[in-house]
Amino acid sequence: MHQDIERVLFDEHEIRNGIDRVAQSVTRIMGAEEFTVVSVLKGSCIFASDLIRRIPVPLQLAFVAARSYGDGTTAGKLEIDLVPTGGEIEGRRMLLVDDILDTGRTMACLKKVLLERGAAEVRTCVFLDKPARREVEFNADFKVFCVEDLFVVGYGLDYAGRYRNLPYVGALRPELYTPEPDEVPRAATQTQ
Ligand code: IMP
Ligand code: MG
Repeated sequence: MHQDIERVLFDEHEIRNGIDRVAQSVTRIMGAEEFTVVSVLKGSCIFASDLIRRIPVPLQLAFVAARSYGDGTTAGKLEIDLVPTGGEIEGRRMLLVDDILDTGRTMACLKKVLLERGAAEVRTCVFLDKPARREVEFNADFKVFCVEDLFVVGYGLDYAGRYRNLPYVGALRPELYTPEPDEVPRAATQTQ
């Protein structure tokens, strides 16, 4: 796996410090009353589990699954399933957590769905923000790091389902996902 990484962008130490900083902000801004952390599967499971253990106030944990169908590195149609039940959403203050804010479509759509289903408030928190790729206007309330326009993997982020278990974030070697000129692009399914 490590040989597929062109360069490391954030190592374990930087990740730990970045999450400490964001966890303190979340605690200060949201921690006065219990709230619900909604982790967007699959990509944010590692970030969310590290983040919540550094927030020393009562909270609940819920999950939502979002999947985009694209060519592997670009976003396509978004499909949402496993939305928390009404009782888990209605009247609750929520912190929606994802691995990366790219075009912004996933977070914008999920925030809207939670508000439509009766959430009292939805704030958003992302591990990475890639502002260069934004297609819908969206800003996260909390973010750990900004990244340039590179395809990154590790710490929950995948390419074709792989590399989520890397303990750091790295740029994937472009030759691993750029089709050769004579190659027919694959219609791969990208899970989030
Ligand atoms: P958005 O809806 O375009 O903001 O897409 C967000 C989702 O696309 C993330 O939750 C990731 O699953 C995926 N994604 C976007 N950029 C990357 C990347 O650089 N590496 C891995 N996954 C990515
Ligand atoms: Mg994801």
